[in-house]
Order: sequence, then C-alpha cells, then structure tokens
Amino acid sequence: MNNKDGVITQVSEVSDNLLMECYWIANLSRPNNAMMIHGFMQRDVNVNKHILFAYFLRDQLRGFIKGHLTKEGGQTMARIDWLFIDTICQRSGIGARLIEAYEAHCRNAGVRRMLVQPAPTRQAKNFYAKHGYGPCEMTYTHAKDLVR
Ligand SMILES: CC(C)(COP(=O)(O)OP(=O)(O)OC[C@H]1O[C@@H](n2cnc3c(N)ncnc32)[C@H](O)[C@@H]1OP(=O)(O)O)[C@@H](O)C(=O)NCCC(=O)NCCS
Repeated sequence: MNNKDGVITQVSEVSDNLLMECYWIANLSRPNNAMMIHGFMQRDVNVNKHILFAYFLRDQLRGFIKGHLTKEGGQTMARIDWLFIDTICQRSGIGARLIEAYEAHCRNAGVRRMLVQPAPTRQAKNFYAKHGYGPCEMTYTHAKDLVR
C-alpha cells in the first residue's frame, strides 16, 4: 500500500487516543509544538470548534492539520495552526492533500484569505511557497488569497 492510499477525514471530537497519536507525530519533528498540541488540541477542537482534518493510513494516523476561522479587519480569514506529517511519510504528498482539504473547507465557509506562520525551516517555507503562500503585512505571517 502506498501513502497516497490513505483517507482524509474531518474530525470534530478528539479522543484521548487520537490526542496521543497527534502528540507523537508532532514530537518527532517539533517537541515544543507537541507539548502545545497536547495542552490545547482537545479544547480547541471539541469546545472551541476549531477545524481538524486527519490522514489515516490503514487506520493509523499519519498526519493532521488544525486551524480556525478568524475575523481580521472585517474579513473572514482562516489560520493554519498546526500541520504535521509522520516523519516516515513526509514528502509523499500527504501534506498537500491535507492543506487542500482544509482550504476547500474554508472556501466553502466563505473564507477569502488563508494565514500561517511557517516554521523557520526550509521544509516548511518550501511547502507553503509551493502552495501559494507568501509574506504579507503581518509579522512572521504568510498569506494566500483563495480564488472562488
Ligand atoms: C512541512 C510538511 C507539513 C510538508 O508535508 P509533506 O507531506 O512532507 O509535503 P508534500 O509531500 O505534500 O509536499 C512536498 C513539498 O514540501 C516541501 N518539502 C517537504 N519536505 C521537504 C524537505 N525535506 N526539504 C525541502 N522541502 C521540503 C517541498 O516544497 C516539497 O516539494 P518538492 O518535493 O516538489 O520539492 C511536513 O514535512 C512536516 O510535517 N514537517 C514537520 C512539521 C512542520 O514543519 N510543519 C509545518 C509547521 S508550520
């Protein structure tokens, strides 16, 4: 089976089990973010209704994207808070599938602009540049205008 054979699902309730899986995936790349995910993921998604898409390959979590909608300057925008792919599956198109699923969801929700603060790595900067994100007027933030 290929990494591309997995499925993307929107998750509205983060179980303790899923939280641990998210934690371990993030911990492999960025331990500081993993601690934040452990502390905030359940409240963000289960209570504050942030948006989470997960990628499962043979029922095992291999990547996820979490973000939320926000009103900034009178415009509805969407922020990407966390995007992590299991290190053994990176660079096989899973990140692309997740960001496309999240962008499609946001477009349907009337969002015109996507925002992210990319990790300070070549990997993250290249990834977001490839998906049309670039520097904007907000410090450390890259933006992409969604086309309808
Ligand atoms: C950044 C990340 C989300 C990308 O997801 P992915 O599934 O690996 O990426 P995809 O296969 O969909 O896309 C590949 C593209 O991403 C970029 N990329 C991925 N890995 C890279 C690497 N090791 N070095 C440079 N660019 C890289 C390139 O633009 C690449 O395109 P190319 O292969 O044509 O050069 C993933 O690698 C990851 O989880 N990294 C660690 C956590 C992180 O930095 N998250 C973003 C925080 S804002």
